[in-house]
Amino acid sequence: MNDDAPIVEYGEPIDPKSIIEPTDPDTLELEQGHPGLGDDVYVRRRSDLFALCRQHRLDQLGPPLIDYTAEETRIWREVTPKLHELHLQHACSIYLEAKNTLGISSREIPQLRSLSGRLQHETGMHLVPAEGPLAYRTFYGYIAKRGFPVTQFIRHGSHPEFTPEPDMIHDCLGHVPPLMNHDYAELLTLIGQAATAARDPLHVLALKRFSWFSIEFGLIEENGATKVFGAGILSSTGEIPFSVRSADVVRRPFVTGEVIETDYDPSRMQDHLFVIPSFAWLRKEAEDLVERLLGTDQFTFKR
Ligand SMILES: [Fe+2]
Repeated sequence: MNDDAPIVEYGEPIDPKSIIEPTDPDTLELEQGHPGLGDDVYVRRRSDLFALCRQHRLDQLGPPLIDYTAEETRIWREVTPKLHELHLQHACSIYLEAKNTLGISSREIPQLRSLSGRLQHETGMHLVPAEGPLAYRTFYGYIAKRGFPVTQFIRHGSHPEFTPEPDMIHDCLGHVPPLMNHDYAELLTLIGQAATAARDPLHVLALKRFSWFSIEFGLIEENGATKVFGAGILSSTGEIPFSVRSADVVRRPFVTGEVIETDYDPSRMQDHLFVIPSFAWLRKEAEDLVERLLGTDQFTFKR
């Protein structure tokens, strides 16, 4: 495990037979090799937050207010300024504009409840407290209804630049800012509704891969430069420079027919990325893909 290790995403592994109805665990499970294993204080804190956020999610209470500890604040203050420097150099304009408008502080960990209120006002999106990674179908079920599940725990302090599962730094600095953009919110909601409506596992898999190589790990062309679009890259100090600079990364034009046939391994640095020509183009591609997979007679996008 090292600082360049990637952030793992929701709902893997990819197996068409298993992606339709996986279940959400009802107790905290830290995977083998997790840096927090053996740290009783950390595990207790994670368990408490797991129970609180799960209860708020299931009872539809909205994000709970969290009293963050000095250690959690220390980690936030260590990681987020480094990310911000990298964002200024490499993030795409949709992300930078939205992040600037939202004004997430590098000093204090934001409360999801107040971020959710801002989003609701701007784009009609809201944040759903998530106890941890959610099954794909559960995750996109919320998105279909304009809710974005967001964790409220912070990674372990021994490896501040690495988390084996999506944590609040990944969610708040990767996913939340672009939700301030109306067009981005519409794209996400479309994918959420399509993924929820799809019954054929291969259609679900196609939508999952489309999301992975765009929303999570997409690059985008802007004024002749390749910029970072995906939240999985934007929330990792290792992945940002790796994605745009490393000679070990294959960057190919985003061709939807190829993307939905391409597998990925979420447990390592992403060395196979696709470059989106423009955001408007991506949105049109998503609409065309949904129409091809589901057909207009079976699926209607509810704005
Ligand atoms: Fe993510």
